[in-house]
Amino acid sequence: MLGNPVLDCIMGRRSIRKYREEQPEDEVLEAVVRAGQQAPFAMQMGSLLLSRDIDANVFRAPLMFTVCADVHRMEKVMEARGWKRTASDAYTLLFAVQDASYMAQNMVIAGESLGLGSCYIGAAPFMVSRIRERYGLPDRVFPLVLLTMGYPAEDPPVRPRYPLEFHLFEDSYPEMDRETVRRAMEIMDSGYLEQDYYRKANYMIALPEGMEETFDFDSYSWTEHISRKLGLWGGDHEEVLRNVRRCGFRVCGEVEDSTDPQAEGDRKTGRGRTD
Ligand SMILES: Cc1cc2nc3c(=O)[nH]c(=O)nc-3n(C[C@H](O)[C@H](O)[C@H](O)COP(=O)(O)O)c2cc1C
Repeated sequence: MLGNPVLDCIMGRRSIRKYREEQPEDEVLEAVVRAGQQAPFAMQMGSLLLSRDIDANVFRAPLMFTVCADVHRMEKVMEARGWKRTASDAYTLLFAVQDASYMAQNMVIAGESLGLGSCYIGAAPFMVSRIRERYGLPDRVFPLVLLTMGYPAEDPPVRPRYPLEFHLFEDSYPEMDRETVRRAMEIMDSGYLEQDYYRKANYMIALPEGMEETFDFDSYSWTEHISRKLGLWGGDHEEVLRNVRRCGFRVCGEVEDSTDPQAEGDRKTGRGRTD
């Protein structure tokens, strides 16, 4: 594969879950945040909350950002222009989530290039009430993800990824036949087992009562771990929607499927440019 300093930085990154205590210098923090701002945006609807309280995050990182999908700030700009938003919450939130995500990942890579490690924590959407209170959030700011950052105090290996042919589909989506899926799973699982990932983390997601455990740390790997996550957790449909609603967004309700895909494309994307 081609190499250059940017690619090396991206390909060498891995999540860091142990940090040195020292605070990154102000100019380092500023560079990281500016790099985040410089990400492509639909409407600049990502914003950041910062906490330097190391007791406030599980990894005791010196910096913890709460990455927000922020429609409130956009509404303030519109208000100043004499506009009211008629775009639906679902429509607006989809763009805000993207703006926030691309911004956050720019920060991760910028941080990496400056020697900072980082790790996302996905719990934010389930801590909405606490985060709203802690930072005094107005309505229509949704805490999307936490991002811890600081100088690393560990040096873990780069984690495996699916093979490229299981990831890039040119012209049409392929049939996911058993053999193709098995090969990709094998690459992920053997990669994690080689790193002894779950034994070192001493972590297997426990099965509910009545289900017999057939794995140990010699066989438990990524595909079983992720399957357990999506097979056991997150079944409370209302929970996420309740938290989205708590932030002042209305995205619920049954919707009829469009009968005219062409009209859908014209209506939603026909105008193309957002700049
Ligand atoms: C949206 C999101 C949520 C995540 N949440 C957590 C988390 O709660 N705890 C954690 O240890 N890692 C979390 N991660 C980090 C992933 O576990 C990690 O990126 C993934 O295992 C790949 O490893 P790598 O980043 O070292 O390549 C999260 C990553 C993303 C993108």
